[in-house]
Amino acid sequence: MFEIIKRDGLARIGRFETRSGVLETPALLPVVNPKIFTVTPRELYDEFGFRALITNSYIIKNNPALKERALNEGLHKMLDFEGVIMTDSGTFQSHMYGEVEVTNEEMVQFQKDIGTDIGTVLDIFTEPYWTKEETAASIEVTLERMQQACDMKGEMMINGVVQGSVYPDLREDCARRMAVMDIDVHPIGGVVPLMEQYRYSELVDVIIASKKGLNPNRPVHLFGAGHPMVLALATLLGCDLFDSASYAKFARDDRMMFIDGTYRLGDMQSLDCNCPACRGHTLETLKKLPKDDRTRLLARHNLYQITQELALIRRYIREGRLWELVEIRCRGHPALLDALRRLKTHTEFLERTEPISRDGALFYTGSESRARPPFHRYAERLMTRYVPSASKAAVFPDGGKPYSRAYADEFDKARRAGYVPVVVSPFGPVPAELDEIYPLAQSLFPENTDAETVSATDEMTFNFLEKMGFEEVIEYEEIPDNGEQGYDADLIRARAISNYQFGIEATDAMFRGEIEIVKSRKTGKIRNVISDGEHILSLRAGDGLYTLKPAGALRILEKVPAPFMRVAVNDDSVPFVSNGRNAFCQFVLEMDKEIRPMEEVIVVDKDDRFLATGRALLVENEVRSLKKGIAVKVRSGNGDEA
Ligand code: GUN
Ligand code: ZN
Repeated sequence: MFEIIKRDGLARIGRFETRSGVLETPALLPVVNPKIFTVTPRELYDEFGFRALITNSYIIKNNPALKERALNEGLHKMLDFEGVIMTDSGTFQSHMYGEVEVTNEEMVQFQKDIGTDIGTVLDIFTEPYWTKEETAASIEVTLERMQQACDMKGEMMINGVVQGSVYPDLREDCARRMAVMDIDVHPIGGVVPLMEQYRYSELVDVIIASKKGLNPNRPVHLFGAGHPMVLALATLLGCDLFDSASYAKFARDDRMMFIDGTYRLGDMQSLDCNCPACRGHTLETLKKLPKDDRTRLLARHNLYQITQELALIRRYIREGRLWELVEIRCRGHPALLDALRRLKTHTEFLERTEPISRDGALFYTGSESRARPPFHRYAERLMTRYVPSASKAAVFPDGGKPYSRAYADEFDKARRAGYVPVVVSPFGPVPAELDEIYPLAQSLFPENTDAETVSATDEMTFNFLEKMGFEEVIEYEEIPDNGEQGYDADLIRARAISNYQFGIEATDAMFRGEIEIVKSRKTGKIRNVISDGEHILSLRAGDGLYTLKPAGALRILEKVPAPFMRVAVNDDSVPFVSNGRNAFCQFVLEMDKEIRPMEEVIVVDKDDRFLATGRALLVENEVRSLKKGIAVKVRSGNGDEA
């Protein structure tokens, strides 16, 4: 059973329950060669804290002594490892050396017999240079073997390896067909050559195509990804498990892994590493060590690099900033920068799991940052949900945030003359009334802009001004002094944020009759919106977006047909949710597919009757497939606090 504890886009911190204990993801499984331990499984567990490893059942089966021991005492005792043991099936050996004469049935049975926790089907490795026909035909064989493995797996968990070479449609189709089988973990296979050849941009396409077809309720393993430099990127794309043989292979080769690449001992000028393995050593003392001692030390160094990066990745997920770590990492190598740029082509898919807002500010690290989902979402919502608050527009350059404070007098002058102030920001055009919503206000950009951002935002502004049909557009210096028009800046703002956040239809349903706006005496910011005497919305100071109140929710239920903004729960859940308890995945009947993480939602019963308001933690396909976890964080029954 896999439970998502914390998510950041497609990345997640999860708990994977196995019969040998719980595995916290993202996790890397060191590859242990059953013939030679460069670092013993006991050390991996005790010293490095690895709770899972992967070894090769084919190598064990082919070595009479190991086979005998594994069958007699079981894999855990043989390796002296009490954590989770995954085994591979010999696919890679067969593929690389053409030596496997075993059947899928034999391999699955053997893995069961030696007590592996997670076994692997004997899949067919699809090479990047294969033709589409060749690839498609081999996937059929893998799928047949997969069904056979599922039928015979018993108590053992099974890896369903997604293959498909570099063909996204074949990858997605293979994933989709495996998603309905009784599989426990999904490795993405056939990617080692892509990584060895630094084809990270294609790796991005392969991972995303596979993720599209898979269900979110199973961990995804990137087979053969063990270099710390790719871990952040792969995690961002929704990979939960990794394995590394290179920590030992590189060590035997006198190569050291660092976050920015791999270095040969012979090429290095100095050691400059403070990891527990290297501490107290210099390059010279290291080189003088006997070969075996040196290999052991380098392997341990490599493992420390991996564990350190994984810890950092987990921290960035918790802080909701993994995308920033990925941008930093991907600047370390041109091939990774290519991968980062490739993400732009997948923005729409990535937007579906992007939270509505985050706690911290969005940091811009370069023009690639514009490919992040919040940029895409802002542009999309502005173009489809913004209703002009005047018939003319005055265009301002970015001049310090929040714009309505930096340009207080100029904005007032523009309003009185009948113009909407529109600031050209790195997000695109920002009408004055939207300047405090996430991520517009909660973001940091360098003052020296780049040409790419300038031209993109100019184009967006042009399209926006044209689409909104303003009868006149002027530069801010041209605003006439003598405007006399009255305007209600608070009401304009209150409505515009609602349009942006909930859409025009829901806003029209909520804003009716007399509107009263309650502001904070201390900050002067909008706190509550009261309509016809009922408290419909509260504005959060942090992200400048609304918390939906029961009165607002009832008006939406009345006017906007289901499933809009709804999460419907079954009868068992009704008494709990009405009392302010969270809505759990297993009780959800239906959910609006347009709901994004952290979005305001209305929890209803099966007949669309109001139960509570809250914030969604997961999206529809996640809620549908996960058996455990909170779908909606519900507000207390009376809905008083944000
Ligand atoms: N190890 C690295 N890549 C693969 C793969 O595609 N399949 C299997 N079974 N093992 C692998
Ligand atoms: Zn070191």
